[in-house]
Amino acid sequence: MSKKEIKSVDYGLEKIFEGAQDFLPLLGTDYVEFYVGNAKQAAHFYKTAFGFQSFAYKGLETGSKDSVSYVLTQDKIKLILTTPLNSKSPINDHIVKHGDGVKVIALWVEDARKAYKETTSRGAKSYMEPTVETDEHGEVVRAGIYTYGETVHMFVERKNYNGAFLPGFQKWESAYNPPSAGLKYIDHMVGNVGWNQMDIWVKWYEDVMGFENFLSFDDKQIHTEYSALMSKVMSNGNGRIKFPINEPAKAAKRSQIEEYLDFYEGSGVQHIAVATDDIIKTVSQLKANGVEFLSTPPAAYYKSVPRRLEEFSHELREDIEKLMALGIMIDADEEGYLLQIFTKPIEDRPTLFFEVIQRMGARGFGAGNFKALFESIEREQAKRGTL
Ligand code: FE2
Repeated sequence: MSKKEIKSVDYGLEKIFEGAQDFLPLLGTDYVEFYVGNAKQAAHFYKTAFGFQSFAYKGLETGSKDSVSYVLTQDKIKLILTTPLNSKSPINDHIVKHGDGVKVIALWVEDARKAYKETTSRGAKSYMEPTVETDEHGEVVRAGIYTYGETVHMFVERKNYNGAFLPGFQKWESAYNPPSAGLKYIDHMVGNVGWNQMDIWVKWYEDVMGFENFLSFDDKQIHTEYSALMSKVMSNGNGRIKFPINEPAKAAKRSQIEEYLDFYEGSGVQHIAVATDDIIKTVSQLKANGVEFLSTPPAAYYKSVPRRLEEFSHELREDIEKLMALGIMIDADEEGYLLQIFTKPIEDRPTLFFEVIQRMGARGFGAGNFKALFESIEREQAKRGTL
């Protein structure tokens, strides 16, 4: 479906997609859980490099004997980093196969039992039946279903809970509190799936989750001289949750999606896009903290930006020289423009990376930048010998 065909009703800030169904109302992203080899060190990295703050903890000291979890927060974003404490934990299998990566994309719901029933009755594979967890602050109900690969959607109902995070966690007070980098919320999370799998998962999100496909890009739009991919963006009814899904496409050389699938050993989360109100400030800080970004697009790219903005009669509020110096890319559509930049993979396997995005009205995903972006990724692939 092309963007022009979308019928949307503007309710203030929210767009309600008429085609999307409301059997699964989602209030937002609750948390994202990573399975990692060493959660203590990963937590230090996310605090130091990305400006996350210590929030909650569970481990041996709180009675958790098999695994340890650190919860980090920055504005509305919550990340959990989990590591097994012995060889018997099934978390090990995930780490052995995939390396560090995203296990759970948790979604905040009003009624977790209903979310589980609605999705499993439509064909979702169960990960965890509705489970009530309690402590002195009340109760939380959680239930989970599998999505692509071994990735899970957990439904979290917390309306009868007033504790900091979840039962079983205690507040994590740390003497080390680096400043925030201005990251505000998760804008979208992208999944990579295997050959000819994209439409299967598009249909899964439509049928099982009631999502709508609101943007599509085929390999004629997303390609470079060497490689290609296809992408479809799925959105829930209120537009708060957006999951683009990529699959590789045939081309002269190996695409970044194939490289991901090879190193992750299957489908999984490719990138997490986090929003900021001031991308110049955020990216300057992240770079000073040691976060590595993909190489800056060539000067010719920045020469063409004013023309692209003019085409849609938008005025760039940021200093283009500063954007160029930081390697931040600009894309525009009818509704506005957006600024974005991509990190290099944040673990040794070339798998998961982050995007930093500032939306100035545009609701797209930077299609105008795909070519420059993928050429930059290909330069990295060439160094790794995986192009
Ligand atoms: Fe993205």
